[in-house]
Amino acid sequence: MAFHYLEPADLLPKGAPVPRGLTNFPKACAHLLLSRSEGRPTRALDLGCAVGRSSFEMAKKIREVIGIDFSRTFIRTAKQLQKTGKIRFPLLEEGHEKKLSLARIPPPIDRNRVRFRTGDALRIPARLGTFDLLLAANLIDRLPEPLRFLKQALPRLVRPGGTLLLTSPYTWSTAFTPKTRWLNDSFATIQKALRPHFRLLHRQDLPFLLREHRRKFQYTFADATLWQKT
Ligand SMILES: C[S@@+](CC[C@H](N)C(=O)[O-])C[C@H]1O[C@@H](n2cnc3c(N)ncnc32)[C@H](O)[C@@H]1O
Repeated sequence: MAFHYLEPADLLPKGAPVPRGLTNFPKACAHLLLSRSEGRPTRALDLGCAVGRSSFEMAKKIREVIGIDFSRTFIRTAKQLQKTGKIRFPLLEEGHEKKLSLARIPPPIDRNRVRFRTGDALRIPARLGTFDLLLAANLIDRLPEPLRFLKQALPRLVRPGGTLLLTSPYTWSTAFTPKTRWLNDSFATIQKALRPHFRLLHRQDLPFLLREHRRKFQYTFADATLWQKT
């Protein structure tokens, strides 16, 4: 919740300098994807949406946004946020100490434009159709079959001319992906897998900050790549 609904300056100790270029990551992903879309996109899919910040951000411009995640808990929370517009959540300070913090969807966002549902990124029902925009933020290194996701799932979900944003720090782990399916030289492998259906539009580092407790953080750089379906 803190990662999605608080800003780095709210997470770091008061007065600590925020590294240049570091912003709220799910919001930055949505804005990067919206900024590079062509035509008038009306449908967006946020795969691995977690508690939904990128989905809500995309709803600023997009009439129909679908957020899908494996986790029932995340989807339940995202739906609750959609209903009420805000939720209080505990933020770990240290040891047993927690403080209550507030997640809030900015009021100008039409929350009714978003639909959340549980699902598996590798098994999206065909009846959901195709999308003008697809976001898969920090998802690929959580999948059991990343190459199948790239070669089969993504080409089916993005309409010709549509835009795809993939981000990942490529933190391969046997907790999610069998070692034999880790991508070697991840970017090169992604490019090769997508080449028959997508062309690369843009690539950049996208930093993010994960808070463990009030004095401990993980600072990571995702590889963000934007693609257009040919
Ligand atoms: C590292 S988090 C990234 C969440 C969010 N996109 C972001 O950038 O903050 C990965 C998310 O993918 C979800 N996930 C993992 N495997 C999935 C799958 N097969 N299908 C859909 N979601 C999945 C997890 O539940 C988790 O919410």
